[in-house]
Amino acid sequence: MSCRVVVLISGSGSNLQALMDQADPELCQIVAVVSNRPGVLGLERARRQGIETAVLDHTGYADRDSFDRALVTLIDGYRPDLVILAGFMRILTPAFVAHYHARLLNIHPSLLPKYKGLNTHRRALEAGDQEHGATVHFVTEELDGGPLILQSAIPIVAGDTPEALAARVQQREHLLYPRVMNWFAAGRLQLHNGRACLDGDPIGPNGLRLENTEFDMREMPDA
Ligand code: GRF
Repeated sequence: MSCRVVVLISGSGSNLQALMDQADPELCQIVAVVSNRPGVLGLERARRQGIETAVLDHTGYADRDSFDRALVTLIDGYRPDLVILAGFMRILTPAFVAHYHARLLNIHPSLLPKYKGLNTHRRALEAGDQEHGATVHFVTEELDGGPLILQSAIPIVAGDTPEALAARVQQREHLLYPRVMNWFAAGRLQLHNGRACLDGDPIGPNGLRLENTEFDMREMPDA
């Protein structure tokens, strides 16, 4: 049985594109893409692939609770097994997170647990870090704080700017997220007692490193 995936976006949808391009058709199907902002490029990307789209504009709702309730109703209409946040720029209510417990993923542009929240690239530069990266994790109530699954790191080089760093981190995001989606769809990835597990083995608190998995490094773009 194919894993039904709903992807939530707010913008350009480059991660969505990677998910669509690299989804294993034997394992999963992206059944809908939902945006809280009308007219974004990500919606166009989905339509080009023949994937159903929906817009739920948060500005039409009085508060976060009522928006999230409407969002749950919309998403559940697609009967998802997995919900993927791909640049969805909204803080979600505890009720939303609880509803999709163990089937809600997010990608964050930092080597979590470092730099939760916004402006991660600038913060990594200002701290003088030597590396930076991205992380896929299960979503829990704590913002960017759920169990880590998979990370990829890139070196920070002299003269780097937040923009240059963001572009290189995004290349890694596009490798991480489809891989994790396919693991989940294959039944290899689960959330058990608050810990992410791959093939039944608990993943450590820092997540796995893409570079240390069976990933073929020749597929890795230059960092
Ligand atoms: C990504 O950098 C992701 O880490 C962050 O938002 C960005 C979304 O980019 N959460 P895109 O819409 O997938 O191009």
